[in-house]
Amino acid sequence: MQGIDEVGGKVAIVTGAASGIGRAITELLVERGAYVIAEDIDPAVEALASPHVVPLVADISADGSAEKAVGLAVERFSRLDLLVNNAGIIINKLVVDMSRNDWERIMTVNVTGAFLHAREAMKAMIPRRSGAIVNVASYASYFSFPTIAAYTASKGALAQLTRTLALEAIEHGIRVNAVGSGDVLTNILNDAAPDGNGVAALAAHGEGAPIGRAANPKEIAEVVLFLASDRASFMVGSVVMADGGMSVKVGS
Ligand SMILES: NC(=O)c1ccc[n+]([C@@H]2O[C@H](COP(=O)([O-])OP(=O)(O)OC[C@H]3O[C@@H](n4cnc5c(N)ncnc54)[C@H](O)[C@@H]3O)[C@@H](O)[C@H]2O)c1
Repeated sequence: MQGIDEVGGKVAIVTGAASGIGRAITELLVERGAYVIAEDIDPAVEALASPHVVPLVADISADGSAEKAVGLAVERFSRLDLLVNNAGIIINKLVVDMSRNDWERIMTVNVTGAFLHAREAMKAMIPRRSGAIVNVASYASYFSFPTIAAYTASKGALAQLTRTLALEAIEHGIRVNAVGSGDVLTNILNDAAPDGNGVAALAAHGEGAPIGRAANPKEIAEVVLFLASDRASFMVGSVVMADGGMSVKVGS
């Protein structure tokens, strides 16, 4: 049965499903009739278990995690239609204060984790000649401000992974795209914010966007579901900005 946005009955992997945007994507997919392997390093993801959701507690950047996620999709729901590479982390440090370990941690999760999952998902999708991969990128794929060098480097790399993989995948009937998200009210800054209140920091930063606010996670999930659905059938290698106008603003 096809749902209103044509993801009904499809089988998806969503990484970073326990919180924020990933959780909203998982909930929207389920609401519209899809089945989800919900992967997260945080065991809180287990609370999402249902007839439509199989949780997987795993570090996306660890060897074997992607194979496990794809294996679960095939074992429990007999195939894989969609991959959403959503899990990501940030660090706020000046380059001169950043350790090699800081840098590598961000790149390993945000880029290598996505690469490993895309590679395994492609292997399952190619024989069926269909599928869609959506990467959760950022306005930081193109723009920046001080203290987010590792994050912007990782999101720039994710945008380029999106484009190159899209070129390799489309000949197999698989579409690859990304969302360039603006500020969203999630837990991503909780460790980085001096007072631990990352949501307040994101709300304040979001006020600088032309729209005057940060997004709710569901507003990004809607764009992800569109790109994942057959309604986006002509979209290949796009990074679609959903950022309240942040990326088109010059000056105040
Ligand atoms: N919130 C924003 O303002 C914003 C803006 C642009 C892009 N994004 C991107 O959106 C994505 C989701 O972030 P969010 O804002 O919902 O943050 P969040 O912290 O609320 O959720 C991220 C989830 O990813 C999980 N995760 C982190 N490292 C992992 C790993 N190694 N393996 C498995 N799971 C892991 C976390 O446990 C968490 O549940 C990220 O890629 C982020 O870069 C967020």
